[in-house]
Amino acid sequence: MRTATISIDPNALNHNIEQVAKLCSQAHTNLQNGHPQNQSKPANIMVMLKANAYGHGLDVCTLALLHNGNLTNNQNNNQNVQAIGVATMEEAIQVRTLGWEKTIVLIEGVFSEQEWQTALRYEMQCVIHNQRQLDWALQSIANSDSPSNTVWLKYNTGMNRLGFSTEEIIPIAKQLDGAGYQQVLLSHFANADDKNHPLNTKQGQLFVDKLTELRQIIPSIKGSLCNSAGIINFPEWHYDWVRAGIMIYGASPVIDKTVNQLNLQAVMTLSTRIMAIHQISAGEMVGYGSRWTPKKTSYIAIISIGYGDGYPRVVDDTAFVTVVTDDSSKYPHLTSPKVGGTALSDNNADNESVSPAIICPIIGRVAMDMLVIDVSDVIDIDNIDKYLDSTVILWGNPTQIKNCPHIDEIAKSANTISYELLCRLTTRPKRQLLGARVG
Ligand SMILES: Cc1ncc(COP(=O)(O)O)c(C=O)c1O
Repeated sequence: MRTATISIDPNALNHNIEQVAKLCSQAHTNLQNGHPQNQSKPANIMVMLKANAYGHGLDVCTLALLHNGNLTNNQNNNQNVQAIGVATMEEAIQVRTLGWEKTIVLIEGVFSEQEWQTALRYEMQCVIHNQRQLDWALQSIANSDSPSNTVWLKYNTGMNRLGFSTEEIIPIAKQLDGAGYQQVLLSHFANADDKNHPLNTKQGQLFVDKLTELRQIIPSIKGSLCNSAGIINFPEWHYDWVRAGIMIYGASPVIDKTVNQLNLQAVMTLSTRIMAIHQISAGEMVGYGSRWTPKKTSYIAIISIGYGDGYPRVVDDTAFVTVVTDDSSKYPHLTSPKVGGTALSDNNADNESVSPAIICPIIGRVAMDMLVIDVSDVIDIDNIDKYLDSTVILWGNPTQIKNCPHIDEIAKSANTISYELLCRLTTRPKRQLLGARVG
């Protein structure tokens, strides 16, 4: 059986959300000391599960939140999370159908009048960013006791994608208030990852000014400005709701801090196994385009994953994997779709008894189904076959699997961002939620 596997660790997801909650709590405590934007409590947390939970699987992540990381626990929702944010009606319905009873926010709002009706039926909350969404909301007003009675009014503070302008925002907020809606004023940073970018201050100031003005007219109006990077870089602007995306999956949202510094853990491990090993002589050529030629006799391993699974073809020569030698049985959950009840945290990478996991460079071109790694430094050449089926980690959690690449490193090798690598994984790798079988 082909062994490319995506493993999702619900404990890591909940750990990362815990870090978001801590940042919100710290921000709140610090703001109490005389800050004009003082809130009565720390910001609520919306977790962004759009785009199939950034490629992690909307179903597995919703389940992880519903069961608070412990899949034998049927009741305990993750208490740190007050809302799930999605981009499409299909995603929103899936979250509701899986049993999520708390707030669901359609972060781009609805795309038709019919979708507005569906949102009302499923008691979802919608962003309103343009005139026609406003018209639908005013033509068919959500009951005052329905969760859909809260709408998220999008203010364009400088991103220039969606939202109403500085001139439009107050009259529209008044219209919605007049129709009986509760509101959250929402805006989105264009450069929150770079704390010193001058547009941040401009966006933040516009937002503060309008929210302050609106609170004079509509005292109940709430505010939401920060995504993951904003949560870290701008604690003074958390307001009532933060919207945490990439950081809950354990990748760094900011340019100047690593996941270790942020105490975040990669939720996803992408792994496969070695399917063939060959000796090749100096001067031979490997793969499409014959891009790699060893200078000395080398041993190469072919592993069963490629761009058909979503691994980026464009990685440069810094891309690497980790091969778990001798004892891949220590990591059965990374390759077996049948496993149940195993948690990654059972593997202690600092424990000397865990077999060494060795870094191997990716060589030649990544193909559709396969890629090639140089295992010359890993294997005992008198016993090559013993390494067949060894586990190979393409990206994962280095605090749990020694030396394994973190997705931020592979994103750098691919000259892109972790978001893109996660979202473009295909349906081909097997998916599993550690601690339970999914699908
Ligand atoms: C409106 C909005 N809020 C929050 C987020 C989450 O962003 P991040 O993943 O950077 O935390 C996104 C993601 O694109 C978004 O579009």
